[in-house]
Amino acid sequence: MDAIHIQGGNPLFGETKIQGSKNAVLPVMAAALLIEDVCIIENCPHISDVQHMKQLLEGIGCRVNFTNGTITIDARNISDDTMSGESVTGMRSSIMLLGAMLGRVGEVTMAYPGGCVIGERPIDLHLNALRRMGVSVYEKEGGFTARVKSLEGTVLRLPISSVGATENIILAAVKARGVTVLQNAAKEPEIVTLCEFLREAGAVIEGIGGSVLIIQGGHELHGIRFKTPPDRIVAGTYLMSVLGAGGHIFLEDAPVSQMRSMLVTAREMGAEVSISKEGLTIIADDHRKAVPYLKTEVYPGFPTDIQSILMAALTTADGVSVIEETIFENRFRIASQLQKMGACIELLGSRKAVITGVDSLLGCEVTAQELRGGAALVIAGCMAMGETVIKNRHFIERGYEDICRDYQNLGVNIYTG
Ligand code: UD1
Repeated sequence: MDAIHIQGGNPLFGETKIQGSKNAVLPVMAAALLIEDVCIIENCPHISDVQHMKQLLEGIGCRVNFTNGTITIDARNISDDTMSGESVTGMRSSIMLLGAMLGRVGEVTMAYPGGCVIGERPIDLHLNALRRMGVSVYEKEGGFTARVKSLEGTVLRLPISSVGATENIILAAVKARGVTVLQNAAKEPEIVTLCEFLREAGAVIEGIGGSVLIIQGGHELHGIRFKTPPDRIVAGTYLMSVLGAGGHIFLEDAPVSQMRSMLVTAREMGAEVSISKEGLTIIADDHRKAVPYLKTEVYPGFPTDIQSILMAALTTADGVSVIEETIFENRFRIASQLQKMGACIELLGSRKAVITGVDSLLGCEVTAQELRGGAALVIAGCMAMGETVIKNRHFIERGYEDICRDYQNLGVNIYTG
């Protein structure tokens, strides 16, 4: 069965290690395609999105080996420039291969990317920027072909600081002729990781971590060994679990410097949070306070990927919380499932949710509809009295290496079945 079972209602105690970052490793794997050499990427999470990216790279001729958390990508020979099928349509980050393929072979045909059902998720910003760099795009039913003779560096300004568009522009720009200046670039830590990977491989990029990136194209790239940083969203998920269920946990390798907004919220809810070189300790008692108002924002603001996870934690907090989602529409699908468990949530349109804390949640059968919403249901299951069965486990496995193992480490009675 594609399900997770949880016997909940107890506080969490224990420690677990934070896996490598999904949103960092996927663009790095795409970037390896630009390098006519062998790259070794360590600390890769064993998640289905990484498997899909591996298949996509293999489909275009790369030799990829994934053993014990280390991926070796040999991109010396590329044989095909067509990408379609489930790996593309099932995963939003397959769009990263657009910039990489244009940089490497100057042409790609791909199906429109898929991913979580959390809103429209268009790719107009990606395509518009690439057009400005000389790319022609021929759209057709369900997909498009993009072609360029020579990528040209230029000055670009993103109307929205899109993470994916920033990554695609960087990937194309390192292979472009001349300098690309990207204004209003996204500043998420995963962008920093991508830039650092490329810089170690020989690219010249200035302004890393800021909103203006200056990329000098055309430098020769060589294979490197690189370590994927820990996943701030997975660490944030487990942090929010203790805010929901109470307890005392230690998260080894949690990337605390990237988690400031989440730690501010944890303290606001009454948790005790302490940071050490090794990771993050969180202690929360039975009574957590509501969060009067919180909105999701681009980094370093509160991440949209933690929004539904926080919502689950707030269902039993003392008082009324309001969450505003500013990045994606349609990211409150989780509310109906939490309501089934006894949560009191009122949606004001598609962007605002009002959560009134109840005494406790009750376990029942719920259905995951996307990755982070699925993780939110796991948190609700840890909090709820009795048994919770979460169907559609495969959504959660897109981003969590082994969520049952991690929660077992935190003392939860949880298993797949
Ligand atoms: C990435 C992350 C995702 C995270 C999101 C926001 C990966 C694999 N995914 O997604 O986990 O939730 O950043 O932090 O790293 N937009 C457009 N046109 C475009 C592109 C985006 O209108 O061409 C809009 C989107 O609809 C959304 C906003 O821009 O409203 C931000 O999206 P974006 O930052 O691009 O998210 P992703 O890169 O898809």
